[in-house]
Amino acid sequence: MAGRSHLKRTQIVGTGSAVPEKVLTNFDLEKMVDTSDEWIRVRTGIQRRHIADEKTTSATLASEAAQKALKDAGLSAQDVDFILVATVTPDMPFPATGCLVQESLGATKAAAMDLSAGCSGFIYALSLADALIRSGNGENILVIGVETLSKIIDWTDRNTCVLFGDGAGAVVLTPTEEEGRGLIASHARSDGSLGALLMLPGGGSKNPTSLHTVEQRMHFIKMNGHDLFRPAILSMVEAALCVLQKAGLNSEQVDLLIPHQANLRIIDAVAKKLKLPREKVYVNLDEYGNTSAASIPIALDEAKRKGVIRPDNLVLMVAFGAGLTWGAALLRV
Ligand code: ACO
Repeated sequence: MAGRSHLKRTQIVGTGSAVPEKVLTNFDLEKMVDTSDEWIRVRTGIQRRHIADEKTTSATLASEAAQKALKDAGLSAQDVDFILVATVTPDMPFPATGCLVQESLGATKAAAMDLSAGCSGFIYALSLADALIRSGNGENILVIGVETLSKIIDWTDRNTCVLFGDGAGAVVLTPTEEEGRGLIASHARSDGSLGALLMLPGGGSKNPTSLHTVEQRMHFIKMNGHDLFRPAILSMVEAALCVLQKAGLNSEQVDLLIPHQANLRIIDAVAKKLKLPREKVYVNLDEYGNTSAASIPIALDEAKRKGVIRPDNLVLMVAFGAGLTWGAALLRV
């Protein structure tokens, strides 16, 4: 890690993403559980999701996205001094998936760790990396959001199995002295009292893996989607307004909203409350479903590659997820 120096601002100089090739459509799901393409499309906006094969893990997807982001930034793995991986589906409890990525990239000068903040993980990681850079403790930081949720989905539970997908998104962060550019403001909050609404109860120190936890299907996602719906909207709006206020800006000045891709109805409600028209909202959950910590960095990379994000654009990223956690980040590209 670099030595301490004067305050700087953080900019994103490279992005990359990776999703598994295999696609699972709503019609495929109709054959697996009691659901329909129409129900999934109307209630969520999702049409397809990408699913990892046996050999693909969070570390392999994260490494692929990271390599692309480094190439985009014109940097090598040797330039990286910190790797921060946001995920709730690490390859294993330890070593950290960050260390597996470090090894696979050959980033021999980098510290590496994981961060667990559900679907808000990427925003949390971005804000921590920003603090490292601004304090002079990081020069080239890789922030990755990755999930292989298909490996913790109960494929017999129609309430959850239709919602999630796999993928990874990565960004390379460096300091900039340019006024008004880069990460302008970020905000993160949590409310553990509502944690039971979305959890994976088995396999930790509370319910160590046993025949009982396996028989009770405690190693799969359990979610009360109905009760999450309202807090998701309210908290994302709160976080978005908070970063705008910190930056002294208003929502009319936002060029693109990149919300966490959980449900189109949630996204539409958030955009409406922020008075943002649909053309200013990036949506790709029809293709990927909810990829949790990966959803915002995948969307950011895709929007950049498609030319949806243009120089000088003000981009507002906002997320909500397990924990509960929520947060937002405001970026001048
Ligand atoms: N196919 C058909 N019917 C279904 C399905 C399905 N896949 N899933 C649920 N249903 C049924 C329910 O059983 C229920 O039937 P009932 O009325 O006979 O009891 C009915 O559909 C309505 O269920 P609701 O849960 O009320 O449906 P809702 O409109 O709320 O949509 C959904 C459910 C999509 C889960 C929604 O509540 C949601 O998106 N919530 C937020 C979830 C979320 O964002 N989670 C992730 C945040 S954190 C993260 O991203 C990891």
